[in-house]
Amino acid sequence: MRLIAANWKMHKTVSETQDYIKRFLKFVEHPESREILLCPPFTSLYVAGQLLEGSGVKLGAQNCHYEKQGAFTGEVSIPMLKELGCEYVIVGHSERRHIFGESDELINKKVVACLEEGIRPILCVGEKLEDREAGMTFKVVEAQVRLALSGVEEHTDSIDIAYEPVWAIGTGVPATPEDAVAVHRFIKEVLKDINPKARGKTRILYGGSVKPHNAPEFMKHSEIEGLLVGGASLDPEAFAQIVYSF
Ligand code: 13P
Repeated sequence: MRLIAANWKMHKTVSETQDYIKRFLKFVEHPESREILLCPPFTSLYVAGQLLEGSGVKLGAQNCHYEKQGAFTGEVSIPMLKELGCEYVIVGHSERRHIFGESDELINKKVVACLEEGIRPILCVGEKLEDREAGMTFKVVEAQVRLALSGVEEHTDSIDIAYEPVWAIGTGVPATPEDAVAVHRFIKEVLKDINPKARGKTRILYGGSVKPHNAPEFMKHSEIEGLLVGGASLDPEAFAQIVYSF
C-alpha cells in the first residue's frame, strides 16, 4: 500500500495540532486504501496520538535516539515514542544531516535501533545540488543507502526509504517525476543487491516540494510508492488533497 506522510518539521504547538487534526480528519475516508502518516514535533505526539486513535491515520516521529535510555540530554528514545503510539520514525532527514551534522554512521545506529525496537524507519536519502551537477547523484544515494543499512541488510523489508533531493526541499522546485523515477528504480536495484531475499516490502517515497498540484504527476508512476510532504502538509486541506491525489 502506498504511504503518504506529513513531516511537519518544527511547526505547530499542541493547540495548533489539535485544530489541524480535527480539521484533517473531516477529509479522511477509506483510510484502508492508502497509508496516511502524520509526523508532528515531539511535543505534539501525545495529543496527536489521542486524537488519531481509531481514525486509521498513523503517527510517526521526526527523529529518535538509538539508545533506549540514558544520559542524553534533550534526546528522545524509541520506547518513549512507541508508548505514544508512534509506528514510524523519520531517520536521517536532510535537515538532520546538513543542519545538525548527522553522519551516515549515526543514521545507521538509529536504523539498527528502530529495527531492534520494532518501529518502522523511513530512511531519508538524497543528493545536494553540487552532487547532481557533478553527475554524482547515484553514487551519493547508493552510499547513503548502503551505509545506513550496514549490518541490517537482511531486514530491508522492515524499512521504507524517502528519496528527497536536497535541492528540492523547501525550494518550490521539485524533481521531475522522471528524474525521481530513475532514482527510485536505482534504489530498488541497490536494495536487491543488498538483500536478494527481500520480499519487496520497502517502499520508496519521493519528497521535495510536493504540492497538491504536482502530487498526481508523481503518483502516476508505480515506482513512486508514496510521498513525504513538508510545507504543504501544514495545511490540512492541502495535505488531504495530496493524500487523495491518486
Ligand atoms: P517540502 O515539502 O517543504 O519541500 O519538504 C520536504 C521534506 O523535507 C519532507 O521531509
